[in-house]
Amino acid sequence: MQKTYNWGIIGLGKIAHAFAEDLQLLPNARLHAVASRSTDKAQAFAKKFNATHAYGSYADLLDCPDLDAVYIATPHVLHQANALMCLEKGIAVLCEKPIAMNSAQLQRMVATARAQQTFLMEALWTRFLPNLLQSLHWIEEATLGEVFSVKADFGFKAKFDPEGRLFNPELGGGALLDIGIYPAFLATLLLGEPDEVVAFAKLASTGVDEECSALLRYANGHLANLHCTFRSTTKTEAFIYGEKGTIHIHTRWHEPSTLSLLLHDQRPQFFELEHKGNGYLYEAMEVMQCLEAGKTESDWWSLDHSLKLMKLLDTIRDKAQIKYPMEA
Ligand SMILES: NC(=O)c1ccc[n+]([C@@H]2O[C@H](COP(=O)([O-])OP(=O)(O)OC[C@H]3O[C@@H](n4cnc5c(N)ncnc54)[C@H](OP(=O)(O)O)[C@@H]3O)[C@@H](O)[C@H]2O)c1
Repeated sequence: MQKTYNWGIIGLGKIAHAFAEDLQLLPNARLHAVASRSTDKAQAFAKKFNATHAYGSYADLLDCPDLDAVYIATPHVLHQANALMCLEKGIAVLCEKPIAMNSAQLQRMVATARAQQTFLMEALWTRFLPNLLQSLHWIEEATLGEVFSVKADFGFKAKFDPEGRLFNPELGGGALLDIGIYPAFLATLLLGEPDEVVAFAKLASTGVDEECSALLRYANGHLANLHCTFRSTTKTEAFIYGEKGTIHIHTRWHEPSTLSLLLHDQRPQFFELEHKGNGYLYEAMEVMQCLEAGKTESDWWSLDHSLKLMKLLDTIRDKAQIKYPMEA
């Protein structure tokens, strides 16, 4: 890849820092511009990561010269508006997960990206990590035979703050959209769209789900068992079950991690794969490779993949009665 890609970031919180650190590891990427609601914050962030431009408003970033892609790292409720303003200007977008609050929002984003012929991808970084790529390689090689079941969890003890991003319904709080999206992602990727979903949630006093469990049944008898919680720190592991054995992605499975291949009647095989940085550089590399190839979507995590995942999240929310004020 010859070109150096100029990145912009909108929303300079926790994940924006981790992503900016990883961009520094990529020789063909540079942080070009950052945008915050606060000019001081933007300037401090730009100084820390050597960005050329610092903006005190998200809209101002759109007029930045020589921008190749924007990474959106605001709370979920802002993803649609932030992405649309970039896409309408023909600026490529990598948008944090969940890419939108619901399918209706996402459908508008997808329609805009496709009409503008502009790149859009949900930042589902797990899809690009070595542990998941190795698992998919085994599955493609039929090492497990037919895969018929997925079990995955994600839980941590979150400090209760009714105003904060995790518990505030106005910011799209709740465990399912924040961390339950990862188990739902794995089930969607490996098993497709379920025929039937059963789900329950325990709601926090703010009305968002602080714990959610879902069971998915597929037409061919396949099953998925998904759990997420802000109430306790769980093992956060994934198991992919097939005819010939199991892939166990160790804790915390959604980020760079080790894994085991457990084939029937064989000794367990343990794998530690090489990974770099915080693990976010793999998704950034995918964006740049797509742009280099003139693609407007990733083959590995396409907009149709995001639409299927969002549909599943909508269904789980419907069954578990997880509602947001902006949808009422
Ligand atoms: N891929 C991952 O591993 C991962 C990990 C964590 C989070 N995420 C996703 O990334 C997004 C941001 O999460 P985060 O943990 O980085 O959140 P965060 O630390 O709260 O940062 C979010 C940023 O959004 C901006 N913002 C705009 N309006 C806001 C408002 N009303 N309240 C709060 N912040 C507002 C702020 O930036 P300015 O003040 O600069 O405008 C804030 O710093 C979420 O959608 C989350 O799902 C992904």
